[in-house]
Amino acid sequence: MNLSVVLEYALKDAHRNAIINLFQHAFEGYPEHATYYNQVPDFRVLAWQKNNLVGHAGIHHRNISIGKQCVSSVFGIADLCVAPDHQKNNVGTVILDHVASLANKSNVDFLILTSGEDKFYMKNGFSIVHNPCRWLVIHNHESMGVLRRQLQKGLLIRSTGTLDWPEGEVDFMGHMF
Ligand SMILES: CC(C)(COP(=O)(O)OP(=O)(O)OC[C@H]1O[C@@H](n2cnc3c(N)ncnc32)[C@H](O)[C@@H]1OP(=O)(O)O)[C@@H](O)C(=O)NCCC(=O)NCCS
Repeated sequence: MNLSVVLEYALKDAHRNAIINLFQHAFEGYPEHATYYNQVPDFRVLAWQKNNLVGHAGIHHRNISIGKQCVSSVFGIADLCVAPDHQKNNVGTVILDHVASLANKSNVDFLILTSGEDKFYMKNGFSIVHNPCRWLVIHNHESMGVLRRQLQKGLLIRSTGTLDWPEGEVDFMGHMF
């Protein structure tokens, strides 16, 4: 398996078509012809088996503020998925480790996301935190307003630097991952 990192602006039509196809197979009910849910990521980590796209993660590089004191650099992870016939083969783990290594080399403090697949993420070094959150809600390419609340399932975070996860409200300063 090979990994490639592709900046969003450099995405080719062939990449786009492969991503659309992967999302349709890996996610139930993903919007047709879509390569992202809320907003385009900054870059993507793509896993290839020969010429087939078998895994994907979209990465949003963002500063978020946590509590009153801390502005933290994060990689927000979106649309991590593996083709159904390649799942449970370590592809998701290899992608996450690659993203963590990029973050560590780039002084990015945390990987962060929300997901129902918390068991998979906990196996991969994430923990659940329950800070109250503030974020921009986007629906069908429309900004709907800013929500403030604590998420029932919490946030999944993985440290990639030396910073301890702070207490206090997490202001995403944009949409949530
Ligand atoms: C979730 C997903 C990305 C995991 O990728 P993967 O390549 O299959 O996972 P890995 O093979 O790296 O699994 C690593 C470990 O997590 C476990 N794991 C994988 N998927 C799991 C799941 N859905 N629930 C619980 N554990 C899971 C594996 O059994 C393995 O544990 P082990 O090391 O003890 O055997 C993949 O199953 C997928 O694409 N699912 C559909 C899309 C989705 O739900 N994406 C997440 C959205 S945020």
